[in-house]
Amino acid sequence: MPAAVSVVSRGRSKMRNTQRKPSILNFDAGCGSSLSFIVIGLVGFTLIACLFFISHQVKTGHAHSYSSHLPATRELEQVEEEHFRLPPPHKVNPRAVKRTVKRRGSTKASKIIDEYLDGSSALHDMFFPSETTAVNPTKGRNDSMYFYPGRVWLDTDGNAIQAHGGGILYDQNTATYYWYGENKDGPTYQIHPEGAQRIDIIGVSCYSSKDLWSWTHEGIVLPGERTNITHDLHISKVLERPKVIYNDRTRQYVMWMHIDDGNYTKASVGVAVSRSPTGPFSYLYSFRPHGFDSRDMTIFKDDDGMAYLFYATRGNTELHVSPLTADYLNVTSAIRRILVRRFREAPAVFKLRGTYYMITSRCSGWAPNPALAHATHKIMGPWETLGNPCVGGNHFLRLTTFLSQSTFVLPLPGLPGTFIFMADRWNPSDLCDSRYVWLPLSIGGLADEALDYSFGFPSWSRVSIYWHRKWRLPEGWRKSYA
Ligand code: DGJ
Repeated sequence: MPAAVSVVSRGRSKMRNTQRKPSILNFDAGCGSSLSFIVIGLVGFTLIACLFFISHQVKTGHAHSYSSHLPATRELEQVEEEHFRLPPPHKVNPRAVKRTVKRRGSTKASKIIDEYLDGSSALHDMFFPSETTAVNPTKGRNDSMYFYPGRVWLDTDGNAIQAHGGGILYDQNTATYYWYGENKDGPTYQIHPEGAQRIDIIGVSCYSSKDLWSWTHEGIVLPGERTNITHDLHISKVLERPKVIYNDRTRQYVMWMHIDDGNYTKASVGVAVSRSPTGPFSYLYSFRPHGFDSRDMTIFKDDDGMAYLFYATRGNTELHVSPLTADYLNVTSAIRRILVRRFREAPAVFKLRGTYYMITSRCSGWAPNPALAHATHKIMGPWETLGNPCVGGNHFLRLTTFLSQSTFVLPLPGLPGTFIFMADRWNPSDLCDSRYVWLPLSIGGLADEALDYSFGFPSWSRVSIYWHRKWRLPEGWRKSYA
């Protein structure tokens, strides 16, 4: 085929030559060489202008195409392909799937997702391996602190970690990491046949760790309320995506979370405070930020001590970002709409060298969907979309964020440009057995779909989440806290 193509193209050029019409661009030999001269001159000028532009960007700190390829992180950035054979399909319970996954077409991928979500399928078992394969810090460190995305992950007491939709705080005061998340250790049920699968509020769990691999349960630092049915934290309500930051002025640990009723119509944020990272946290109140409905949310503390709330709003059609007050207990009056009409949720915000990044998911209940990375120079926006950050695995895994949904992105202090992407592999048929997908995320190289081009150069670096069946943190990841 390529030979035929080249014959055709040669024939065409011959025809063009014989039928060439006189034109003002039809120079003789002498004119041809001056044209080349002009072209070379123009190309040279453009190159010099581009080099000048790049050096200016570097000098002014506006060069955002950042390369993170440190020798220590090379292994994390290996592209690992995954070739699994799908088990033979079984009859999916249509009612269960209808309730779990709404408004999805019947593409091949969505059929596989329906099957994966059905707790009784072999495909489901493939991605929710049994406890016999659990990551277990009580067994010593023979398996040398590997993360295994999707496996049961035990704490230092040998119990499955219950910290879903969570986030991590590095506490300078105790030089310890604290992982806060939803404790979902209860039975899954539906309030009504069309409702989402749910678990009663048990509370927010806290785990501590120095190495990010072996986690000690510090208890339920914000428990559900058993008796007062009008309380936001009554067990019949919804508490999701708790995140904690430390306020250096007030010396309080401040927790923000999504507060809702069983039907997700309250759509509010809740705030709680504590003097200690391990609680107990006192619940203050819930409210709708600026009067808007607020579902999936996160908070982000910037280097200058300012903190921001990001929340999915207007029926999940867009996100809003708002600075918090100095005590982190409320939002200020400033508000910006971002990613309007994009239907994004599960925001996880992080920063590298003056650029802010965010990973989001689409809105599809507990079902996985493709992640997107976004970036901006100004946290209040506008935010640009960079594309799907997932690398490796296979097409299906990349289309489903490795069968997970973003919740937090944790910087690794000794490895600038490398982060841990934290996500939930939800198990709607048994939410308490939802798993964690932690993978290395790095910023480097040019983004695939950067919309903002200046002088032909995309302004953003690529955000990549690398699939690994098993991986561990490289030496030196802690350096700057040592
Ligand atoms: C997706 C959200 O990201 C989760 O936190 C949870 O609210 C589920 N939807 C409920 O269906």
